[in-house]
Amino acid sequence: MPNSGSESSFDLLSELDALSRRLDPGPEDRRQSTRLVAEHVHAYLDALPDAPARFDRPDGGSRIREIPVSEDGIGLEAALDLLREHVDAVGLNPTSGRFFGYIPGGGLFTSGLGDWMAATTNRYAGVFFASPGAVRMENALIRWMADLIGFPETAGGYLAAGGSLANQTAIVAAREAKGVEGAAIERSVVYLTDHAHHCILKALGIAGLRRSVVRTVPVDERYRMRAEALQELLSTDRENGLTPFMIVASAGTTNTGSVDPLDAIADLAREYDAWYHVDAAYGGFFRLCAETFPETADLLEAMSRADSVVMDPHKTLFVPYGTGALIVRDRRHLLDTHSMDADYMQDTRSADHEDSPADLSPELTKHFRGLRLWLPLQAHGVAAFRAALSEKLLLARYFHRRIGELNGFEAGPEPDLSVVTFRYVPAAGDPDDFNRRLAGRLQRDGRVFLSSTQIEGRFTLRLAAVCFRSHREHVDEAIDILRETAAELEAER
Ligand SMILES: Cc1ncc(COP(=O)(O)O)c(C=O)c1O
Repeated sequence: MPNSGSESSFDLLSELDALSRRLDPGPEDRRQSTRLVAEHVHAYLDALPDAPARFDRPDGGSRIREIPVSEDGIGLEAALDLLREHVDAVGLNPTSGRFFGYIPGGGLFTSGLGDWMAATTNRYAGVFFASPGAVRMENALIRWMADLIGFPETAGGYLAAGGSLANQTAIVAAREAKGVEGAAIERSVVYLTDHAHHCILKALGIAGLRRSVVRTVPVDERYRMRAEALQELLSTDRENGLTPFMIVASAGTTNTGSVDPLDAIADLAREYDAWYHVDAAYGGFFRLCAETFPETADLLEAMSRADSVVMDPHKTLFVPYGTGALIVRDRRHLLDTHSMDADYMQDTRSADHEDSPADLSPELTKHFRGLRLWLPLQAHGVAAFRAALSEKLLLARYFHRRIGELNGFEAGPEPDLSVVTFRYVPAAGDPDDFNRRLAGRLQRDGRVFLSSTQIEGRFTLRLAAVCFRSHREHVDEAIDILRETAAELEAER
């Protein structure tokens, strides 16, 4: 490297220029790269109907670790070959209609196109001044969700990276709003059931609230929070000089899809002046199904009475992973917690016509997440989402009925939403052991994917109908495979 500052040091510029331009391919190269990538994606999607829901690859794609990041690269075609072999065809396949595990994700094709545009146009969606269009779009999506919940005009929120981060942001806002700090932490009580998602406890720890008191409220036979038990806990805590700080209700638990009695809990939150948070990461968007499933929409109606609600578009609006949403009844709580100034940001304050995500969330520079949601909503219309969600509610009821009728199987409670729990009751032997082996064999087989959980200490299987590609034929296939596999295991004894 020549001395910097000498004339000859600048001769290097033409060499650097030539090399660095590799990063900015010209029109023909760009089009050729796009064709290659499009072909990769189409081949993936064309093969999807016959692809397993889990790839049982013992090597687990480990070869990808051996590919060095080299000075000259390997070129796009070779990179795509590696992706196809060692990433696309390894592990779980949540794009499959036969994927019923956990809370299945989506991956709408139109979202993929939105992501491609968001990445290549790289709008700065954190700050209104930088990209008023992108920020307005994201704020409009939040407003659309606030209307769905029934929140007033004061509401605000942001598109988070997922449900965990959205829940965490809500908890931090609640902590600030209720002034839970210092000695108050140990006297502050959080109420939830043991079916609440574990990200809530994780978030309490991250938010510095590990020493707060956590009360596990008993559930009823459908795994919904028992409001009268909550009332007892609240009243005893208050009598004992503790402060009810926050009640976390679930609108669709991960385990069973149960919806806590949101209205009764809202009454108690008001009476005890506790922050009311509803984790509707999975269930919130089922509110869209009010016409076909009015009773389901009714279960969700009192989300409108919460202080904060989390809903995950990367679950029940089928967009790719990396999109949650937090909506807070009074946006000032988010602004109070997250709005910051810095000298180098002074220009951005010249245009503050709308809230910036950076002032409502822990993030500054962030992906333009809105486009992956806005584009499919605009392209396909809400009716398509409504139909897909109603279909999932109906599929869950269909599966619940059929599995309950199947010899040897025992269905859990009627589903509130689209998760059904069940297990096989073997003619003899330990049911937990049988169901563990049943889950293991199903997962190794991989044609369908169902995950398992523990409910009241019992090994339980569950089917979550969430993927937009899941239709009746996939549920029928799951039932056939379950019947077949249980019979095989019974015969082996
Ligand atoms: C009810 C509920 N809350 C929160 C989460 C966490 O969301 P994420 O995985 O997007 O961080 C999940 C994930 O499945 C969930 O089901």
